[in-house]
Amino acid sequence: MNRAAVVAGVGSCLPARAVPNDELARRLDTSDAWIRSRTGIAQRYVAAPGTATSDLAVGAGAEALKCSGLSAVDAVIVATTTPDRPCPATAPVVAARLGMTGTAAYDVSAVCTGFVYGLATGAGLIMAEVADRVLVIGAETFSTLLDPDDRSTTVIFGDGAGAVVLRAGSRADAGALGPFDLGSDGEGEALITVPAGGSRQRLSGQPPRADEQYFSMSGKEVFRHAVRRMTGSAKAVLDRAGWSAGDVDHLVSHQANSRITQHVAEGLGLPARRCFSNIAEVGNTAAASIPLALDQAHTRGVLRPGQRVLLTAFGGGLTWGSTVLTWPRLDRP
Ligand code: UT7
Repeated sequence: MNRAAVVAGVGSCLPARAVPNDELARRLDTSDAWIRSRTGIAQRYVAAPGTATSDLAVGAGAEALKCSGLSAVDAVIVATTTPDRPCPATAPVVAARLGMTGTAAYDVSAVCTGFVYGLATGAGLIMAEVADRVLVIGAETFSTLLDPDDRSTTVIFGDGAGAVVLRAGSRADAGALGPFDLGSDGEGEALITVPAGGSRQRLSGQPPRADEQYFSMSGKEVFRHAVRRMTGSAKAVLDRAGWSAGDVDHLVSHQANSRITQHVAEGLGLPARRCFSNIAEVGNTAAASIPLALDQAHTRGVLRPGQRVLLTAFGGGLTWGSTVLTWPRLDRP
């Protein structure tokens, strides 16, 4: 089969307010030096009260549609850990606000791997001829999950959104996605979790305790899993694509921690100059991280037509996933 899902547009959206490390260090027992040296982060963006995930998703989706020259698609997929509400999904309201009532729209939940899962799902719709054009958005207001007094998570995560438009094309087209590698290990469920608020640990009407209500992460253990899984998944996808590490012009990995990216690159035999990084400016934006990085790398002229790009992500679940593409010629704003 020659049909393929081809990247036709990218976009992103960040909240207005950047929060530098020093601002957090004024109220938490942390420092700019610790955060920079342990994570590579200098600032993150935080959405104002009243700004929801769908607001950022609409901003990124509108930019990606404009970049693609399309005004509508056949399906809208939103990858998020922080939907507007537990019910319904966020994608239908995003589609409606982008002028697409009547379009298929649903959320994908795989925490920081959500965008790669969303891309695979969108590509699947195109390959199965269910859709010819799909908008895949990664969007988060992750700050809404964080315990403001927990220095181990508050310094890492940020808010934002990124989006990609996929169109039906052929495998030889620049921008054709795939192969994919996807995986999960639910035995690691407790390593990245918001314990309460779902059906397992119900909110009973009593105010929940901070350790039940907020996001928690076993940082050191997750670090090791992230390096192992992203390296293994990236190798698997390179193998399936018939590419060697030397063929990769840019690794655009989930921006979890600059030290994680460094270890993954070392494991793959990629020099640091071929790893795109924007974690210093935006922090870890979970499902938004890869499309936000793709849009910034494209807009800044780092990703150029014909270059070979490797995407890899790891997140709660545990989940991981990777894919490859040759960067297409796209409009730049
Ligand atoms: O997005 C996908 C999933 N997430 C990830 O992949 C993130 C993976 N994990 C990490 O990035 C890192 O483990 C962290 C950045 C979360 C933590 O860095 P670390 O180098 O693994 O630090 P640690 O947890 O081992 O803590 C080292 C020390 C501890 O103090 P003691 O016990 O040595 O006295 C912590 O209490 O650093 C302390 N610490 C801090 N100190 C200053 C932890 N957080 C902070 C902080 N500021 N913000």
